[in-house]
Amino acid sequence: MNVKVINGPNLNLLGKRNINVYGKETLNEIRNWLESKAGDELLIEWFQSNHEGKIIDEIHNSLNCEGIVINPGAFTHYSYAIRDAIESVEIPTVEVHLSDINNRENFRKKSVIKDVCIGQISGLGKAGYLNAVKMIIDYKN
Ligand code: DQA
Repeated sequence: MNVKVINGPNLNLLGKRNINVYGKETLNEIRNWLESKAGDELLIEWFQSNHEGKIIDEIHNSLNCEGIVINPGAFTHYSYAIRDAIESVEIPTVEVHLSDINNRENFRKKSVIKDVCIGQISGLGKAGYLNAVKMIIDYKN
């Protein structure tokens, strides 16, 4: 099974950025950890971009994948274009956030992505990525 993991803006700064909120691990460390947890039958394709259009292109380029895990960063809260891209490709998608977006600033409580996803995981740190992959596997079975 192929799963694409897409990370949005500023997540390339993990490990340096707001470590009280996001922790000390870098995005690459999270990637290595997730790949170490994936069994032989699971291929993780990893992508990060700070650009909305590149994220949309990557969603369009995921037709070879059985699922998408996406942490859209701040785009979560206002990108109808990313929302529409997810809806258009009809690939089961799970929205993930490292932090608990429901217990932070008000603007983070709204996700415009959530309704086109099969689930939303928030506040579990890197474990959220693994849970999201498991959610896709369960959904497919
Ligand atoms: C985030 C939460 C967003 O509100 C924020 O803009 C991020 C990271 C998270 O993983 O907790 O960039 O998606």
